[in-house]
Amino acid sequence: MEIMKTVEDMQQWCLIQKRAGRSIGLVPTMGYLHEGHLALVRQARQNCDIVIVSIFVNPIQFGTGEDFDEYPRDLTRDSEVLRQERVDAIFAPLASDMYPRGFNTYVEVFGDVTEKLCARSRPGHFKGVTTVCSKLFHICQPDRAYFGQKDAQQLLVMQKMVRDLNFPLEIVPVPIVREPDGLAMSSRNVYLSPEERRQALVLYQSLQEAQKLINSGERKVETIKGLIRDCIESSPLARIDYIEIYDADDLSDIEEIDGRALIALAVKFGNTRLIDNLLVEV
Ligand code: PAJ
Repeated sequence: MEIMKTVEDMQQWCLIQKRAGRSIGLVPTMGYLHEGHLALVRQARQNCDIVIVSIFVNPIQFGTGEDFDEYPRDLTRDSEVLRQERVDAIFAPLASDMYPRGFNTYVEVFGDVTEKLCARSRPGHFKGVTTVCSKLFHICQPDRAYFGQKDAQQLLVMQKMVRDLNFPLEIVPVPIVREPDGLAMSSRNVYLSPEERRQALVLYQSLQEAQKLINSGERKVETIKGLIRDCIESSPLARIDYIEIYDADDLSDIEEIDGRALIALAVKFGNTRLIDNLLVEV
């Protein structure tokens, strides 16, 4: 397994792979890998000749006061895990190589997909994500790039960017991987105290309750959101950022579920902000 630390080395290596006719799968990550990331890696391993995992805690997608400095990092452990998954190359560049002095070009998607949900409390976040992913796509030239449904809004933003700007690659969605008790896996779960970790289960439980209500015939968005709110508020440590239900394809507003809808939650426990979601179809 190669570990590439510069943009130039990575780009050269990818060019050689492309010229040899090999298909490339890219899994963009910020490292501190868990089974959620590995689900993406395994899917890429099945579909592509070459699998590249990028590990880069992207400074421009963090706002001031967010957890960029504290974000967990462990490249040694991540490399070991990825070697076992038979990954071909890790791309772990320095921020000064990705954003050298004078860097001043950004890629931004507009509209509902970048104005709702996480965009409200994280202004500039998606612009940072689309800019870094555009760079990663140009450097690695993947045929496919893998993104988790865990970050449902990020996935929609990437699909829109690739469509709007004609990037010659396919965005492959991968379902959410959960802990045995239902908590969605996240690198940020390590921030939770034992009591917060226990109460954080309420995210998944509230989504399951919502699914049951929908199965029993309820379609009204306000009623379903009310049930989720009651469920989450039963946890004293939970502070709700948002509970929303939108059209699953473009995040447009809906009053009743009719077709595919995304139920999306963001809830804070202490300083830790957790997100979870459920795709429903009626
Ligand atoms: P990161 O949070 O490290 O996540 C990398 C990828 O793993 C994302 O596509 C995310 O949706 C996926 N993922 C994380 N937890 C998951 C889970 N429990 N189940 C399934 N997939 C999961 O998302 C980012 O990094 C960054 O924004 C990035 C795209 C790398 C751009 O900097």
